[in-house]
Amino acid sequence: MKANIGINKSNISKVVSILSNYLADSYFLYFKTHGFHWNVTGMFFQPLHKLFDEQYNSLFSSLDEIAERIRSLGEYVPATYNQLKDLTCLKELKDIPKDMEMLKVLAEDHETIIRNLRTWIDEVTAAGDVGTADFLTARIEEHEKTAWMLRSHLV
Ligand SMILES: [Fe+2]
Repeated sequence: MKANIGINKSNISKVVSILSNYLADSYFLYFKTHGFHWNVTGMFFQPLHKLFDEQYNSLFSSLDEIAERIRSLGEYVPATYNQLKDLTCLKELKDIPKDMEMLKVLAEDHETIIRNLRTWIDEVTAAGDVGTADFLTARIEEHEKTAWMLRSHLV
């Protein structure tokens, strides 16, 4: 049975495309953060290892929420590595950065997602999807808080 939730087919496609981009960005930022948790070294090993632990777990939980938002709209979720790689705008790193560089890289990725979310919230609102607008608005606050915590190490 098809979803009949008062949003037309073309608007559903627009919203699902946005959520798929957001899922891909979140997936790659989750993976990068988890990798930094494993590979961080230096004087600040313990607090950064712990900070990255909290942040990758939070991002990991968000993946399920984003994916299930897509399913709530009646569409299927891009769920292979290659699909997600094509959908993200975030860059993968070739080498392991130093500890302070890790903080900078993560802060910049969260800020990229925050800027994307601002546009996406306007677009899903214009598409009549208040549920997704509300969901993404809650997510932007979470990314803003995380970016602030990362930036605060770099003053
Ligand atoms: Fe661990």
